[in-house]
Amino acid sequence: MCGIVAYIGQREAYPILIKGLQRLEYRGYDSAGVALLNGGMHIYKRQGKVSDLIAYTEGKDKTGQVGIGHTRWATHGQPNHINAHPHCSGNGHLNLVHNGIIENYSLLKKALEKLGHTFESETDTEVLVHLIEELQSRDSLTLEEAVRVALSRVIGAYAIVVIDEREPGKLVAARKGSPLVLGIGDDEFLVASDATPIIEHTKRVVYLNDEEIAVLSKDGYMQIKTIGNEVQTPYIQELTLEIERLEKGGYDHFMLKEIHEQTTTIADCMRGRLNATEGWIRLGGVEEFQNRFMKAERMIIIGCGTSWHAGLVAEYLFEDLARIPVEVEYASEFRYRNPIIRESDVIIALSQSGETADTLAAIELAREKGALVYGVVNVVGSSISRLTDAGSYIHAGPEIGVASTKAFTGQVTLLTMMALQLAHSRGTISESYYQRLLTELENIPHKVARVLECEPQIQYIAQEIQDSHNALYLGRGFNFPVALEGALKLKEISYIHAEGYPAAEMKHGPIALIDENMPVIVTATNRNAYDKIVSNIQEVKARKGKVIAIVSEGEKAISEMADYTIEIPETEDPLAPLLSVIPLQLLSYYIAVGRGCNVDQPRNLAKSVTVE
Ligand code: AGP
Ligand code: GLU
Repeated sequence: MCGIVAYIGQREAYPILIKGLQRLEYRGYDSAGVALLNGGMHIYKRQGKVSDLIAYTEGKDKTGQVGIGHTRWATHGQPNHINAHPHCSGNGHLNLVHNGIIENYSLLKKALEKLGHTFESETDTEVLVHLIEELQSRDSLTLEEAVRVALSRVIGAYAIVVIDEREPGKLVAARKGSPLVLGIGDDEFLVASDATPIIEHTKRVVYLNDEEIAVLSKDGYMQIKTIGNEVQTPYIQELTLEIERLEKGGYDHFMLKEIHEQTTTIADCMRGRLNATEGWIRLGGVEEFQNRFMKAERMIIIGCGTSWHAGLVAEYLFEDLARIPVEVEYASEFRYRNPIIRESDVIIALSQSGETADTLAAIELAREKGALVYGVVNVVGSSISRLTDAGSYIHAGPEIGVASTKAFTGQVTLLTMMALQLAHSRGTISESYYQRLLTELENIPHKVARVLECEPQIQYIAQEIQDSHNALYLGRGFNFPVALEGALKLKEISYIHAEGYPAAEMKHGPIALIDENMPVIVTATNRNAYDKIVSNIQEVKARKGKVIAIVSEGEKAISEMADYTIEIPETEDPLAPLLSVIPLQLLSYYIAVGRGCNVDQPRNLAKSVTVE
């Protein structure tokens, strides 16, 4: 993961880099560092957060109009000061920040050691900066030429920015596999892992493509070349992102803000794509490839983490409504297990960030086999959105909390529309049911607002169970993936061990865990198999489990049995996840806050996993 930011221009670089790093901190917070060019080179780096770096640089010389910055999520070497980026060449002239993994670093390191190089850190990154130095001095190459040759010898993924104190008016940036955006201002350039550090300085950006190298100079000159040395014409785009969306807006945490935003983000996802009164749903990408979708013998949905859970909801949706067989795969497993992919398959790749390394690699594999790959992505301009044959954005806006919330409901909304559009064209649902679901879907944002009214009650329940060591989440049918998602949310931000299970599967093992200390959170809004879930709850109560039930308003049988009941508005079963997941998001949020955990930046995690 890691966040990269760099600046070259007429202004002081340090404040711009720091603000940028704060915006990118969701990508990693093991350490932070900057290198500033000011006659010589000033390098400051610290284990921990950007705030630790700020405290460390207090009173130090931070001048310089050229600089690079980094916030790290460690892959190679512990998260300490020495392994923090930027990394310096042996002669001290070069500094480099890197996002990704240099897979052949060990071989390169041995070769460089034979040539007399010594290394300070355990990182793969340091090897790359020494390799650039070696090529520069051996073949008298310019910085950009040395970078180009070095990258042709590297195996792995990278986004890098390099500076050289002997060529102080220049930044060299390159990418393969990890994202990099160039911002073009007036007499200045910014480089960053995503557009968030750039937006307040300029809206004009270039998304660097894989295997491209950019040279940006202080006098406003920009050149982009491929690693094969071909000059490229940059494609300049205008950003539409609004700066307010990157702020907490009065909430204590981004996660809470993002949970609350779901009343509007779900509506934004449907805007211009659904009209219940006129009875239509239109996803441009699906229309464009209508033929392929109609002929699809199978859909394979790929994703990781929460996106994978959204894929599981889609499995129920596509099979139930559009009668298309679906397989849902973890991208990381799919890419390495020689999967059978046919040209008649449609692959749907789900990703909030659009940068997840495993999902990207799975997409490449599917495209090689000739399948149509459709991306459902949040971040506009991200790698996945550019690599897929077609796709739809979920329009949830920037999701900054590491725990995904509004992206999940955005993905599920989009996939619901997709399933309904296909079901309608394939004639697999009745006109009246189609119309009912459309009307209900359009009404979901209002119902989300009503679900959010249960916040004080959830806060109270969170206090009651926040000291538990384990938790079990149960659900059936459309609510089974919601149980998995609820458990993931609790694990990642409160560090309580939690498991999600299909409610009926509980008696095949996990029931052994249940005692009076075990909270069992049951999502039981289903109309289908309602009686079955009532029995499952009875089984938990018989073992003294503490039941927290999410039910539809007016429900009686479960409410009488459960220790705590959260009532949410009733809806059609296929739309249930859009409402039932919200109390679970709030529950994990308040449990984590109660336990004093860092909700937006949970330990060991980072927002986008751009390494394998
Ligand atoms: C969700 O809360 C997680 N932090 C994580 O599982 C995430 O969903 C996963 O890494 C996939 O990310 P993506 O959607 O950006 O591809
Ligand atoms: N491999 C580099 C390191 O460990 C960069 C890590 C990353 O981008 O996640 O420092």
